[in-house]
Amino acid sequence: MDEELGEVLFSAEQIAARIRELGETISRDYAGRDLVLAGVLRGAAFFLVDLARALTIPAAIDFIAISSYGPSSKASGVVRIVKDLEEEIAGRDLLVVEDIVDTGLTLGYLLRILRARGPASLKVCTLLDRAVRRIVDHPIAYRGFEVPDKFVVGYGLDYQQRYRNLPFIAALKTPA
Ligand code: IMP
Ligand code: MG
Repeated sequence: MDEELGEVLFSAEQIAARIRELGETISRDYAGRDLVLAGVLRGAAFFLVDLARALTIPAAIDFIAISSYGPSSKASGVVRIVKDLEEEIAGRDLLVVEDIVDTGLTLGYLLRILRARGPASLKVCTLLDRAVRRIVDHPIAYRGFEVPDKFVVGYGLDYQQRYRNLPFIAALKTPA
């Protein structure tokens, strides 16, 4: 398809099957609660939308966008909010939906500011977890797949804003 793309790690079918399982578990865990799904733009948009459709319980849908400071956008953990949540989250059950947790620096910042708003609960659901690169650890309540130490694209994940629209997840041949 593209000479930059390497092996397919997760097919569209595998992703859909895993999201069905996550949807069942989350629906069970949050039954009778006031669930707010907060997707981190832009990468988690695809995952959040499919996850929301796999839920059998009511849930509010919201998005937050952050951007990294500085020339090297990787692994600084210094980020600012570009687009905030619109939902009031105090006293509600917030589930942060991420595409991938890598170093954990971005998530650490996000959790800090969201926790300060006083949600009744605050948990994380990530499609991909690259635990080998973790610098700051966070409990991850729901994870789709573990990924090896390779840069991956597709299903929301980009390399220089490309490949987000691939229905599957593949490794990138060119080292990022
Ligand atoms: P962290 O702060 O190092 O955990 O970085 C997390 C963010 O970096 C993710 O939300 C992604 O936006 C981006 N990222 C990390 N690894 C990859 C990857 O393999 N492909 C695409 N984006 C990635
Ligand atoms: Mg992200």
